[in-house]
Amino acid sequence: MSENFSNLNEPSEPSSGTAQMPMGIMIVLILLGYIGCYNVDQWNANFAANVHAPFTEPDEVASLAPSAEELLVARGKQVYSKNCVACHQANGAGSGTDIPPLAGSEWVKGDVATIVAITQKGLIGPISVAGKKYGAGAMTAAGETLSPDELAAVISYIRKEWSNGGSAVGVEEVNDARKKVDDSGQSGQWEVKALEAAGFIIPE
Ligand code: HEC
Repeated sequence: MSENFSNLNEPSEPSSGTAQMPMGIMIVLILLGYIGCYNVDQWNANFAANVHAPFTEPDEVASLAPSAEELLVARGKQVYSKNCVACHQANGAGSGTDIPPLAGSEWVKGDVATIVAITQKGLIGPISVAGKKYGAGAMTAAGETLSPDELAAVISYIRKEWSNGGSAVGVEEVNDARKKVDDSGQSGQWEVKALEAAGFIIPE
């Protein structure tokens, strides 16, 4: 019993071999690759996430970023404009009569702990600032509720602004000075002689 399969309509067996990619697609791919590389080279600054046009190098961006001290002073300016500007004025000149200047003040350029003590408790004159006597006004405890960060920032600001040429102040220095104020047992506003008696350095 034999069967005849010769007339079965079977598809031909799959075969292996190579087929060429059409030339057009090849050219497009090479071109895209070239454009991609060109752009990476031109704009990406080694994939640095913070570098965007018009800058091309991380160093260039880093050189333009504000320093930690500049940020501190900028923050200090904000604290100043909320807590001090009403009396001492934006130009740091005070009122010319009962409010003394911070610009050019030997107190501001002087010992940091003394400035912390003044902002912490306030001050009642008489006081001599830049060769002039003040005493008709009184300073409130304008810095008492500020955080150590804010106080360090505002003191750094007044020491650096208006060509005062002083140094920036750190949070630790502020905390140490606050402790010294607490230890002094001073309750109300200072007078200059009480500051001196508590061991704070008074400018000549
Ligand atoms: C209510 C007004 C007032 C405010 C607010 C005020 N001050 Fe004063 N400040 C004075 C007066 C007035 C004196 C001088 C004391 C006196 O004559 O009785 C003084 C004195 C000072 C002094 C020492 C003298 C000098 O001129 O250098 C410093 C430093 C100072 N203030 C810093 C500050 C800072 C910082 C702030 C904000 C955190 C501030 N003051 C907020 C009124 C003020």
